[in-house]
Amino acid sequence: MSAGIVTVSYIGASVLFILALGGLSNQETARRGNLYGMIGMGLALIATLIGIVTANYGVLLFGAVIGGFVGWILAKKVEMTQMPELVAILHSLVGLAAVLVGYANFMDHNIALTGVDKTIHDVETYIGILIGALTFSGSIIAFLKLSAKIGGSPLMLPARHWLNLGLLILALWFGNDFLNESATGGGMVPLILMTIVALLFGVHMVMAIGGADMPVVVSMLNSYSGWAAAATGFMLNNDLLIVVGALVGSSGAILSYIMCRAMNRKFLSVIAGGFGTTAGSSTPAAEGDAGEVIAVQADEVADMLLDAREVMIIPGYGMAVAQAQHTVYELTKQLRDKKINVRFGIHPVAGRMPGHMNVLLAEAKVPYDIVFEMDEINEDFPNVDVSIVIGANDIVNPAAQDEPNSPIAGMPVLEPWKGKTTIVLKRGMATGYAGVDNPLFYKENTRMLFGDAKDSIDAVLKAVSN
Ligand code: TAP
Repeated sequence: MSAGIVTVSYIGASVLFILALGGLSNQETARRGNLYGMIGMGLALIATLIGIVTANYGVLLFGAVIGGFVGWILAKKVEMTQMPELVAILHSLVGLAAVLVGYANFMDHNIALTGVDKTIHDVETYIGILIGALTFSGSIIAFLKLSAKIGGSPLMLPARHWLNLGLLILALWFGNDFLNESATGGGMVPLILMTIVALLFGVHMVMAIGGADMPVVVSMLNSYSGWAAAATGFMLNNDLLIVVGALVGSSGAILSYIMCRAMNRKFLSVIAGGFGTTAGSSTPAAEGDAGEVIAVQADEVADMLLDAREVMIIPGYGMAVAQAQHTVYELTKQLRDKKINVRFGIHPVAGRMPGHMNVLLAEAKVPYDIVFEMDEINEDFPNVDVSIVIGANDIVNPAAQDEPNSPIAGMPVLEPWKGKTTIVLKRGMATGYAGVDNPLFYKENTRMLFGDAKDSIDAVLKAVSN
């Protein structure tokens, strides 16, 4: 394949990736966006395999078979609720790839550059390994936190900002050494030392971020993995990798910004870490401390729903765990048939990944026109007769507004307590992801329906149908 055809294929793939991102920004076009992305990737792969790779096809096939097999097993095994962990661990692989490509590039004696070209190449290698290493270790910590293999609370080392600054200065110092062969004579030594520093920085950066701010971390690491891929593209002189890396890097950065706005956080404060330390307990307040909760049965919930004219459903992570979305839609249809207006209110960080609830509702074929974002719906709560909170907790926590010392203080939340009645479906009194108690459960107009969300909705559906 001639270089011209490869370039044209790469341009075609880049355009398809841009269309894919455009499609993914809206639920109705997301499926098409995915298709564009798949075609783009297929085109890119074929052009690279035929046009760029000229030897070592055996090694390539060996790697592809092993990687493909592991990926296939993982994709089969992973539950929808484990997607964020999977994404985090996949980001770590992008980081690791950038590190390995960087080292391979540095050790490749066929690349004989001099003068400015050599400096540019060395800078690319150094930055690629730096971003790759911190993406790698940061993503592994994010994986461990998201899968609850380590605690979610932020690690607050004394003088942590100084530690970060120290690590940054060290990375710059080793960079100068690597380029100018000053202190340690340049070459491999400063490169390895910088890699250790970057790995430590990645660990410290994500360890210092509190539970409620993890959404920002996930999208931030997504962005870093893009920049790591772009750096790899520079090292390999591959235009497509540079374009794709920059697309992922910048869309991840935009997503981080959107997440920060949704959480009412400043991006820099999240990176610096430390939210979620001042107050809040990881155990629920003992009953009586915060008040009594009023438990109800499924048939009572059915009666309340049948008496209502306006119903708001607020899904959260527990709906994903229970896989209750199909039953929820069945209930929605029944109520709508009875001329009850049912809408869905979606918080931007509900669940464990951006758009988590939208994906589940789309899977259950809930029509898009009854699904509303938090900003569109929050003012309507005073007119709502019954809100059903299905396995959600942090996103409906009034402490975010009322308690300045709460770890989630300032985070915008859905406000079902402003409606007539709120029914909360959950299994017990456990806290949500941020580990803070929720005063909503103790409010006078709140009723608790305890049990697995799917079982509870099944029972309500049965009672409504009778
Ligand atoms: P959470 O605050 O995590 O609350 C989920 C609740 O669901 C829990 O309190 C749990 O209580 C209940 N639950 C779990 N399994 C259930 C089941 N089978 N049936 C019924 N209830 C069940 O969820 P949320 O309100 O969706 O808030 C999301 C949180 O995750 C936020 O703090 C957000 O910052 C964080 N986060 C979000 C993302 C993104 S990007 N969306 C990424 C990482 C972290 P019981 O155990 O008592 O049932």
